[in-house]
Amino acid sequence: MKIAVLPGDGIGTEIVAEAVKVLNVLELPLEMEEAVVGGAAYEAKGHPLPDATLQLAKDADAVLFGAVGDWKFDKLERALRPEQAILGLRKHLGLFANLRPALCYEQLTHASSLKPELVAGLDILIIRELTGDIYFGQPRGRRTAVDGHFPGAEEAFDTMRYSRPEIERIAHVAFQAARRRGKKVTSVDKANVLETFQFWKDVVTEVHAQYPDVELEHMYVDNAAMQLVKAPKKFDVVVTGNMFGDILSDEAAMLTGSIGMLPSASLDANNKGLYEPSHGSAPDIAGKGVANPLATILSAAMMLRYTLAQPEAADRIESAVRAVLAAGLRTPDIYSDGTRKVGTREMGDAVVAAITGKTIKG
Ligand code: IPM
Ligand code: MG
Repeated sequence: MKIAVLPGDGIGTEIVAEAVKVLNVLELPLEMEEAVVGGAAYEAKGHPLPDATLQLAKDADAVLFGAVGDWKFDKLERALRPEQAILGLRKHLGLFANLRPALCYEQLTHASSLKPELVAGLDILIIRELTGDIYFGQPRGRRTAVDGHFPGAEEAFDTMRYSRPEIERIAHVAFQAARRRGKKVTSVDKANVLETFQFWKDVVTEVHAQYPDVELEHMYVDNAAMQLVKAPKKFDVVVTGNMFGDILSDEAAMLTGSIGMLPSASLDANNKGLYEPSHGSAPDIAGKGVANPLATILSAAMMLRYTLAQPEAADRIESAVRAVLAAGLRTPDIYSDGTRKVGTREMGDAVVAAITGKTIKG
């Protein structure tokens, strides 16, 4: 099994190193090869997604990704910015299904900004369509307006669009995921205003006919944003378009109070996937050895589960993470009184120790 390892920028290199360490103790036939991506790739090779990196990702069975981005690249033209690396990988690898679980760990219930009773036991799965919508829709650009409120003025525009097959395939992913969980799907749209999302709602409803055992509810995106903080536990699987999913998945992540804990998977039609933490490159704490590696370590677990068909190895990682939390180890982002503050490397070492059956010192 070949894994392309793309650490990227900021804390990416530190957290990915810990995930690789964890994968290495599992004694599986994994072949890992590393390449530059994002700002690091721009600096080394002049492009955020060099051909060699893309080829490595294409040839691999799965991609383990850190994070990209740094303020120092904000002035570059859009095509050369670090974010283009992840957008390019999604597009070229056809990674249309983005799975972002928001799981509230028992020991971290108090870390949420919501009342503990609202989030205790929270377990929702946001499924975000990842290769369509206004992110990729053409045409887009700048021009002189010929109509609208200010004809003759300079304007910018993007195109929101979804085709039937794009909606159908993500709806299937959502209904199938719901079957393995709480059997409920909330499809989030803006059908009251947007043509694209009336179509979305219609197609999701049609696909639902094939899943009579799963409950389907429709919700407008503004209401969904509100319900997520009002009664998050009412959700099971949430499926939505690329842009609404970008926003709602950050909101859902924050419900758990610890975005540093949340993994994600981006899958193609054959379950090949790119796995990355839900958080970003955090340039402000890069190189300090304080970043939480658990989201990346848990992303490696998702990779074993979804793409590499090694559910037992995935279980071992997930249990080890629970064990280190139970032992009271915390990186600064999840630290609270009465626990022990550790750095990135020590946290990774503790997960390795838990996997190999050593007792964790709290
Ligand atoms: C995400 C990020 C990306 C997105 C950026 C970095 C392009 O916010 O993965 O959610 O908007 O999809
Ligand atoms: Mg985002």
